[in-house]
Amino acid sequence: MPDLAIDGGKPIRSTMLPYGRQWVDDEDARSVAAVLHSDWLTTGPKVVEFETAFAGTAGTRHAVAVSSGTAALHTAMYALGIEPGDEVIIPAMTFAASANCVVYQGGTPVFADVDPGTLLLDPREAEKKITARTKAVIAVDFAGQPCDYERLRTLAQRRGIKLVADACHALGGSYASKPVGSLADLSTFSLHPVKHVTTGEGGVVTTDDAALAQRMRIFRNHGITSDHRQRETAGGWHYEMVDLGYNYRLTDIQCALGLSQLPKLSEWIARRRQIAGCYDAAFSSLKGLQPLSVRPDTAHAYHLYVIRLDLDRLKVKRDTIFAALRAEGIGVNVHYIPVHLHPFYQKRFATGLGLCPVAESAYERILSLPIFPAMTDRDCDDVIHAVQKVLSAYRM
Ligand SMILES: Cc1ncc(COP(=O)(O)O)c(C=O)c1O
Repeated sequence: MPDLAIDGGKPIRSTMLPYGRQWVDDEDARSVAAVLHSDWLTTGPKVVEFETAFAGTAGTRHAVAVSSGTAALHTAMYALGIEPGDEVIIPAMTFAASANCVVYQGGTPVFADVDPGTLLLDPREAEKKITARTKAVIAVDFAGQPCDYERLRTLAQRRGIKLVADACHALGGSYASKPVGSLADLSTFSLHPVKHVTTGEGGVVTTDDAALAQRMRIFRNHGITSDHRQRETAGGWHYEMVDLGYNYRLTDIQCALGLSQLPKLSEWIARRRQIAGCYDAAFSSLKGLQPLSVRPDTAHAYHLYVIRLDLDRLKVKRDTIFAALRAEGIGVNVHYIPVHLHPFYQKRFATGLGLCPVAESAYERILSLPIFPAMTDRDCDDVIHAVQKVLSAYRM
């Protein structure tokens, strides 16, 4: 329960509105129950069905389902052959998993700064970080806004490196009318409950490259060339492990949930955009904050709605505004601590303050407001009123 509200009175909400939440209905539960009563709980027909449906949504030839968005990123790094000595460029403003995947393969993550308006990877900053050892760039569609793929693709082609999209925030978005998933050599997605559709935990890598897709299917299955169902269909037992892989498989139970969720994506994205539109309208003239900017030619998927506080107009820092909004029952969050400032990266890769000043300055100012399709209009009004109330109390 929230503490006392800012004016010592009743908080705007008596229960906490989270920043994101899944939407699971009876139809989803029935789909999962049907699989529980079937012959295949994992690596059965639902995996292939889900991969086919997902590839359709992403506009690609192949989709490889794995056990999380993190596994999707690791699988992508493996598929590209990242190994010790290789460098991969990553924006500083992202979740740690975007960089961890490089370290899993023994590679070196190299942090590049972001654009101050959108907090997306700045292609000029990425270019400055390219060396003879650079093998790939991971573009992160932060908050659900697709990156500047035209410039990033041109840069990658010109410098002979691969482009990976960490699209874990951006399923359902598009750039220049092309769906997210089809904009890079490999694109990775998360199916965690706060994301656009969920399988509990889960992830997907999409690509048009059949050889990369095959490499990834082997990697997610211990590095073994055939799965249990394929051997059963062929009536044999023999299998070979051709490389060191992992058990990154997604189950049939999870894929049944994903298959039931996926058709609802466009309706849910429309609702996310509607909520973002209400926030935009309410905050456009509110002094003390600015929403992130949205680039032309992109259709935003609004995994997050991020505001930047104008600290020059406020008497307090972000953390006081955070606590005051939580006390009003608004489950605000902070996305993200720039990855290069995490103790692990500072220790292992000698990163630190000053490496990516735009991301570091943004980090002091950002807050993510609740946005998820099951939010009611009343919930949105509560968020708007709470933000107005807290900012007017702390404005200079
Ligand atoms: C940008 C980004 N990349 C990767 C991940 C990892 O996804 P998962 O939690 O499914 O492993 C997340 C998770 O929130 C994320 O936000």
